[in-house]
Amino acid sequence: MGETAKEAAGLAAVGLVEDGMRLGLGTGSTVTHFLHGLAGRGLDVAGVPTSEQTAGLCRELGIGLLDPGEAGRLDLAVDGADELDAELTCTKGGGGALLREKVVAAMAERFVVIATADKVVERLADTFPLPVEVVPFAVGPVSAQLSELGFEVVERRGQDGAYRTDNGNAVLDCRHPGGLEDPAITDVHVGLIPGVCGTGLFVDMAELALLGHDDGRVDRVRPRSAAD
Ligand code: A5P
Repeated sequence: MGETAKEAAGLAAVGLVEDGMRLGLGTGSTVTHFLHGLAGRGLDVAGVPTSEQTAGLCRELGIGLLDPGEAGRLDLAVDGADELDAELTCTKGGGGALLREKVVAAMAERFVVIATADKVVERLADTFPLPVEVVPFAVGPVSAQLSELGFEVVERRGQDGAYRTDNGNAVLDCRHPGGLEDPAITDVHVGLIPGVCGTGLFVDMAELALLGHDDGRVDRVRPRSAAD
């Protein structure tokens, strides 16, 4: 799916924003549409950015920035996803911002995912690898332990050698053939490996997904268990 679908999802999220809100501002190409739409509404809002990239775009667009240490509870966080399932459990971090994205999503009363509808999968991490942020010192031993858990592990590379996040850490992209049976358990197991700073799994965080289509339609999807 293309830019029209991303834009439709991003602009649908702008409709959730009210004057005076404190926001969590995600990262990625779908969020870029959200930020442009938000700037166009001229609301009195400010947000905590999840990456240097988003902070830079907000400065260009005139969207106020908040420090995570001073922002307090956020009203709404909006972010993209690389994959999501029927429970709206997401994998995130294709752009490398997973750790700050998770911190910011956890600061918010409401976390809304914006994505193209083709990102919905039956099982996570079979097609799009799960990003895991790791302190550089621990890349070797963490990779070995992830392999023991059944992952195919590839250290992300940057243009000039090893990739580094905004936090100075490495990212391991971890595919799980057949997908994750229980993402919540995986998140705990992987998160407990010494040297892991965080996984790109967002479990029980999103309350709504806005899923764009190429014809401009947007599906509003709740977690399957919430809809039952
Ligand atoms: C950034 O690290 C990611 O979590 C993004 O939110 C995710 O990769 C979605 O990006 P796009 O909207 O560009 O597909």
